[in-house]
Amino acid sequence: MSEKIVINHLRKVYKTDEQETVALEDFSLEIQKGELISIVGPSGCGKTTLLRLIAGLMEPSSGEVSIGGKKCTGPGPDRGMVFQEFALFPWRSVRKNVEFGLEIAGVPAEQRRKTAERYIRAVGLEGFEDHRVHELSGGMKQRVGIARALVTKPDVLLMDEPFGALDAQTRNIMQGELLRIVEKTDTTILFVTHSVDEAVYLSDRIVVLTKRPASIKDIVDIGIPRPRDRASPEFIRLRKQILTELEDENVRPAVHAEALNGGK
Ligand SMILES: Nc1ncnc2c1ncn2[C@@H]1O[C@H](COP(=O)(O)OP(=O)(O)OP(=O)(O)O)[C@@H](O)[C@H]1O
Ligand SMILES: [Mg+2]
Repeated sequence: MSEKIVINHLRKVYKTDEQETVALEDFSLEIQKGELISIVGPSGCGKTTLLRLIAGLMEPSSGEVSIGGKKCTGPGPDRGMVFQEFALFPWRSVRKNVEFGLEIAGVPAEQRRKTAERYIRAVGLEGFEDHRVHELSGGMKQRVGIARALVTKPDVLLMDEPFGALDAQTRNIMQGELLRIVEKTDTTILFVTHSVDEAVYLSDRIVVLTKRPASIKDIVDIGIPRPRDRASPEFIRLRKQILTELEDENVRPAVHAEALNGGK
């Protein structure tokens, strides 16, 4: 069975007593099984909103998301989410954090432990199983978050700026590890990032969003074979192209303000 993700005319309006905010407008996209898609766009344009809708953490105002032909109406074990702010249990051990999803699914203790240990190894945290999360560095916490999301073997991994808080070196290591995991597991990944360099390094395709309300400005195929050389002319060309597209989005309001002030 194909586990293609189909996003159809998705729209989200946040309503509060004072105002309505349209965060996402007419967003349609098909994602193939095993694809790694990055989402880039101006700050506040609606990227997290998009991921939360796909995760089923909230209802769209209109439109729908389906996976393998089945409409998503709530969260499910087929989708795992990794947040920028980790969202771990700080006082629990690494092992307990990673086991969490298995516990919810009612997996017996012995099997839970074995499976969790395999993923803890996969993200390079062997030896830290019994450390509490609050004792770990930012990079290590993010690894726990990734292991926790992967342990239930989701078909789809939704990652919201997962490496944003890491130093450049740890970030590069995590990018490499993510690619290894994708290769091994055929997981479909939606990856939100502010780093165009990271997006070009990782992705099969990059979806460039407009400023809020987010809709698709461009979809860029990154055909460069992996492992990618960040210094290659093709890499640099694609990075520049996407940066220019993003700058256009960020520049527009300023141009508008100038026009209001007389435009000269
Ligand atoms: N729960 C909410 N209630 C009301 N408005 C919201 C809510 N969540 C987000 N918004 C608004 O929706 C818009 C899009 O927010 P979202 O968090 O999706 O942006 P983003 O692209 O992820 O931003 P960033 O790059 O800063 O993470 C923003 O204007 C935000 O203020
Ligand atoms: Mg966000």
